[in-house]
Amino acid sequence: MDLYDKDVVSIKDFSKDQIEGILDLSERMVPYALGDKTERILDGKILGNLFFEPSTRTKLSFESAAYRLGCDVIDVSEMSMTSISKGETLADTIKMVDAYCDLIVLRHPYEGAARLAAKFSINPVINAGDGAGSHPTQTLLDLFTMREAKGTLDGLNIVLVGDLKYGRTVHSLADALTMFGAKISLVAPETLQMPDDIVSHLEEKGCRPYKTAVLEDVIDQADVLYVTRIQKERFPDPAEYNKVAGTYRIDNAILREAKNDMIVMHPLPRVGEIAPEVDGTQHARYFKQAFNGVPVRMALLSAILGGEL
Ligand code: CP
Repeated sequence: MDLYDKDVVSIKDFSKDQIEGILDLSERMVPYALGDKTERILDGKILGNLFFEPSTRTKLSFESAAYRLGCDVIDVSEMSMTSISKGETLADTIKMVDAYCDLIVLRHPYEGAARLAAKFSINPVINAGDGAGSHPTQTLLDLFTMREAKGTLDGLNIVLVGDLKYGRTVHSLADALTMFGAKISLVAPETLQMPDDIVSHLEEKGCRPYKTAVLEDVIDQADVLYVTRIQKERFPDPAEYNKVAGTYRIDNAILREAKNDMIVMHPLPRVGEIAPEVDGTQHARYFKQAFNGVPVRMALLSAILGGEL
């Protein structure tokens, strides 16, 4: 797979073979992620977990993944608790954290922050979400979840719905899906459609996404319905957010139009896009998807730090 000592800034840093290799290794990690087996292949290593934006799943699943493999963790959850609050630059902060650990995981509110961190760190850097940019490790666990449910990633019909402008998970995911010949539908209000540069990239890779604002146009064909939250915190004008808030809500009524084996995914947190009544249906995969962050991040940590099973 050859990921030893490599940065993970964008999903485009990976080849299809590398992605498949990580997914295969993730599968082998599941019993260790569940605690049914133990293995300390990263004993003596230290992960530096820097989260300068809120996170539940990404931060805790990286920590769980590290501990499950015997890797220690140092972490920061608040920019205000670091010397950045005294005026230190991100570059200097990264150089210091780099000196204290073997791998840095960074979530940051600004697009491009992970790329900058990778430039200033000698040890590898993993992008855990950079503003409205990308979220490559989320994409790996999303692909893992799709493959687990569907048995293959090839040629799936994927509907991405919600905030496709500011939602970084769908930016990375759309890029990755082109490697697997996916048919992609982009469902969003006009103001929250997928950015042109990403659509151009999809087209260069031979994918011609279908754009619509109406979920009912495409839901009956979907193998996967990937729902996203409208990212209130990224709107420069709250009035613009209010115009689109609550545009889409997945409930059992709309799911009657879907194939029986269609799965509903969501990177979470959800704030009303999926009704709780969906949780008990055969369609719901979002909580399993969030668990899958542990084996997938175990696979990544072990591949990058050189402790493969
Ligand atoms: N999916 C995801 O990135 O969730 P968190 O923001 O809780 O990490």
